[in-house]
Amino acid sequence: MTARETAVAVAHPNIALIKYWGKRDERLVLPFTDSLSMTLDVFPTTTAVRLAPDAATDHVVMDGAPAEGEVLRRATTFLDLVREHAGRRERAVVDTRNTVPVGAGLASSAGGFAALALAAAHVYGLPGDAEQLSRLARRGSGSAARSVFGGFVVWHAGDPDAPYPDRASYAEPVADARLDAALVAVVLEEGPKPVSSREAMRRTVATSPLYRDWVTDSRADLARMYTALRDGDMTAAGTITERNALAMHAAMEAARPAVRYRTTATDAVLGHVRRLRAEGVGAWATMDAGPNVKVLCAPADAQRIADRMREVTDARVVVAHRGPGARLRQVTA
Ligand code: DP6
Repeated sequence: MTARETAVAVAHPNIALIKYWGKRDERLVLPFTDSLSMTLDVFPTTTAVRLAPDAATDHVVMDGAPAEGEVLRRATTFLDLVREHAGRRERAVVDTRNTVPVGAGLASSAGGFAALALAAAHVYGLPGDAEQLSRLARRGSGSAARSVFGGFVVWHAGDPDAPYPDRASYAEPVADARLDAALVAVVLEEGPKPVSSREAMRRTVATSPLYRDWVTDSRADLARMYTALRDGDMTAAGTITERNALAMHAAMEAARPAVRYRTTATDAVLGHVRRLRAEGVGAWATMDAGPNVKVLCAPADAQRIADRMREVTDARVVVAHRGPGARLRQVTA
């Protein structure tokens, strides 16, 4: 691939049905466990990257305002990695637009770093296929490795004893997934979370007495999830999804000090989901590093579940289906 001056890429967030929680290598962003997600068709991030050969530093604009602090540091560190791989030195101008609340446990970093990785790889002329792009996106944010692909996606933790562990950890679409699913996002809070997922993971791994069991359980959940996806078994997929999320939250709540993203509003929504199930509606909840709840269900039930959630909460409710992988929208030489 030859270098281009500007590239614009679009990527969507993904929601993990089998969660990624805990890094065995912080620098390389290598997880302890495999994870599996569904890429959504809502909340895209669009990122333009332009080379700025005369600039002394990178310039990053997020949602119309210059990025600073941790956001700027993470973007610049990521661009440094791309430059190192490409053997280039020019700085860049990055303009990124989110349609998802940032840092609220709605996977903004997944779509964000998948889009940045794709656009930056193009402008710096980095060669590579989608698998390599997913390795690169992983270095920005672990879950971004999965947003490179559409539909159901598995991210392999990789063999820790592999000669090059970085190469062994990448995402790819789940082969033969026959499940058709929707996710109803119940957006209780749009503000950034009090503890970053990065810090919360670190604390869970270092101090939670439940972390080891979480790792063992999660491996078993993944094996069962593959079967559920291949059989198109919504009840099994939903049951595993909810159990896996609750176990992840239990592990972090047992950390010292505890990490608690669930609020009373979260618990109320979980109660509504259980009541829907008692009424015979196939609905299962999952939560990430924030109070918001996503309800996994068959597409035919999504509207009914969304209507019910709107009746019982003031939350913004968004229905999502399986969405596409990261793609380039525009490249100019
Ligand atoms: C709870 O991918 O945001 O959403 O790698 O530190 O950037 P970093 O973490 P991030 O964590 C996502 C955690 C999760 C579960 C998941 O998406 O698998």
